[in-house]
Amino acid sequence: MTAGGKEEMPKVAVVGATGYAGAELVRILAGHPGVRLVCLTSRRHVGADFAAIYPSMKNVVDLKCQAYDPGVLARKADVVFTALPHKLPMQFVPELLEKGLKVIDLSADFRFRDVETYVGAYQQHACPGLLEEAVYGLSEIYADRISKARLVGNPGCYPTSILLPLIPVLRKGWIDPRTLVADSKSGVSGAGATATPATHYCRVNESFKAYKVAAHRHQPEITEVLRREAGCEVKLTFVPHLTPMTRGMESTIYADLTAPVDALQVTECLREAYGDDGFVRICGSRPPDTLDVRGTNYCDIGVVADGPNGKLILMSAIDNLVKGAAGQAVQNMNIMLGLEQSAGLESVPFPV
Ligand SMILES: NC(=O)c1ccc[n+]([C@@H]2O[C@H](COP(=O)([O-])OP(=O)(O)OC[C@H]3O[C@@H](n4cnc5c(N)ncnc54)[C@H](OP(=O)(O)O)[C@@H]3O)[C@@H](O)[C@H]2O)c1
Repeated sequence: MTAGGKEEMPKVAVVGATGYAGAELVRILAGHPGVRLVCLTSRRHVGADFAAIYPSMKNVVDLKCQAYDPGVLARKADVVFTALPHKLPMQFVPELLEKGLKVIDLSADFRFRDVETYVGAYQQHACPGLLEEAVYGLSEIYADRISKARLVGNPGCYPTSILLPLIPVLRKGWIDPRTLVADSKSGVSGAGATATPATHYCRVNESFKAYKVAAHRHQPEITEVLRREAGCEVKLTFVPHLTPMTRGMESTIYADLTAPVDALQVTECLREAYGDDGFVRICGSRPPDTLDVRGTNYCDIGVVADGPNGKLILMSAIDNLVKGAAGQAVQNMNIMLGLEQSAGLESVPFPV
């Protein structure tokens, strides 16, 4: 390899590479033009070829899974993605930071600024001091802070799909932040690679149901960010649903209008916030479709103003594994490393 080739590029590792979010990171990073994927870890598959676990990766990824070892990671890598169940990253991340690594954590462990909110939704925090330093990785909104961060808490999939449409409109003061309702639907990969009775094929196929109604752990995460953005009390009713899709997430969000704005003005406000050439695509009154963002880092947003009822309706579609997890994590890495935000994420969407 010549100078300026892959050998010279920043090196990255994925901890928890065998899970659905980790494997999606491997997929994206394997095709990234500006970094080199050097290390994958697993707990159960140490020594196994990654391509033996995910056969689609045959002749694409030739790495073997290794046991988690912070010393090895520090010797081999510059950036580490932790794609582990919550509770584990907060035990691993302090040492990775001490060893000089940049870390992007996909779990909930570093998404909260207020430790009590984290404790209320999850469990005691092992390193609450790091919550102040960690940057919430909603790429389009917090790019400035992400660019200076050594630790990013990558947002949850539902929060990404709800915050991107809401924040610009909330900043304008056009909706009442005490009247928010988010009705969201997720594909089954959102629950991770291990099937449970509730996510077994026979319970999911040809089925559609709400779950954790007004009791999902992403609710406090969303509310904490919205409260910061609105600068006042926020009330959000959040109802997630499970749909018989592998990947994809749609959120329909309702809010009371506080100003006489129409859908065109809201569309313009979102275009101003996100531009025309980034990962957030504004669809106007056309309801976005999960099919159009499958496998991509796009978040498509539609807008309808239900004037007679005084409601604004925002709709968003993302791929939960890409913009909702691995894609946004790579976008955050690009920002942290000063690369093009879109590097490695420019896959062309499927037409059908
Ligand atoms: N799925 C999504 O759509 C999505 C979206 C946003 C965020 N996330 C977040 O991403 C993280 C991973 O989610 P996932 O859906 O990919 O979960 P998953 O499919 O269950 O994968 C979990 C990964 O963690 C590893 N692991 C589990 N326990 C471990 C331990 N004690 N020590 C070391 N490694 C261990 C597993 O390794 P082995 O099985 O190889 O042992 C596996 O690679 C979670 O925090 C989740 O909240 C997921």
